[in-house]
Amino acid sequence: MVAPVRLTQLAKRAGCAAKQPPGFLLPLLKNLPPIRDPRVLVGSATADDAAVYQLSDDVALVLTTDFFTPIVDSPYDFGAIAAANALSDVYAMGGTPMTALSIVGFPDHLLPAEVLLEILRGASDKAAEAGISIVGGHTIKAEEPIFGLAVTGTVAPQKVLANRHAQPGDRLVLTKPLGLGMITTAAKRGEDTCGAITEAIQVMSTLNRSAMEVLTSLETHALTDITGFGLLGHLRNMVVASGVGARIELDHVPVLAAARVYADADIVPGGTHANHRFLGDFVDYAHDITPQEQWILCDAQTSGGLLAAVPTHVAPIVIQRLHERGLSDSAIIGSIDSEPAGRIRVSRSALP
Ligand code: CO
Ligand code: CO
Repeated sequence: MVAPVRLTQLAKRAGCAAKQPPGFLLPLLKNLPPIRDPRVLVGSATADDAAVYQLSDDVALVLTTDFFTPIVDSPYDFGAIAAANALSDVYAMGGTPMTALSIVGFPDHLLPAEVLLEILRGASDKAAEAGISIVGGHTIKAEEPIFGLAVTGTVAPQKVLANRHAQPGDRLVLTKPLGLGMITTAAKRGEDTCGAITEAIQVMSTLNRSAMEVLTSLETHALTDITGFGLLGHLRNMVVASGVGARIELDHVPVLAAARVYADADIVPGGTHANHRFLGDFVDYAHDITPQEQWILCDAQTSGGLLAAVPTHVAPIVIQRLHERGLSDSAIIGSIDSEPAGRIRVSRSALP
């Protein structure tokens, strides 16, 4: 079924690029009372992917929610991508999803009810692929369509993969290519001259489940997923939480080819520019890294890949297994340094 209106035209901002930037949110959260419940193993203080709450010696809950306005025109794909994106935050803690609730805003004065049915069908098929059901939800009238999930999962308390245990010498592994923000922005503006949206939809719809299974079956020190804050934004959260620094080798970072074309044409989401401005204080780019390449590293992703810090000797095995599972863009993109803590250095290839 085809939507009578292009869904992305109803959204002022699309996907995770609609996320409030870290420079806005993190200072605000500091004003709230600290979390004192000792059963909260991971709370909001470390800007992690999901909260983790200990139920017993063996079981902890993983709790997260993510929702946004249409990132693509197809209602079915929008639902599937929003579901994959929300589930990803459970995988990014090393968790297994258990159940989910829908969060819906729907402009029923602009769109027929069948559009909402297609969104929910896309989400429920993706949830089924993840092995869970969407068991309820809440729907309000809204001026723009909004869809997402609140997902609950489980993890063994000793096996939580937070973002705060990256260790100097670790290699950084990324499991999906960058550039999704630029490609979806080009499509939204009718400027996707490379016809890249089909591949982008396929990338965004891919669950991070296999990647998580590979990483948890081997040794992983820290794990997060790449969404609205971009690669460098989520890496910054990891290095700050871990008290370490990091270096990125640009030549090894997987990037969707069309994103380079669109970056050069300045087809860049507002959220990406906001990330780039915010991260300017924390990132040292080598002199030969162009502004367009910097934007790609800061590009606001929707349902991007996992970013893992793994011991050096494990990294090649991780990559081999990820490739065997069909995640062919997975690559070692840099490493963790002991210092400067909280900073990221970007060079074209490995630093001496
Ligand atoms: Co996340
Ligand atoms: Co999230």
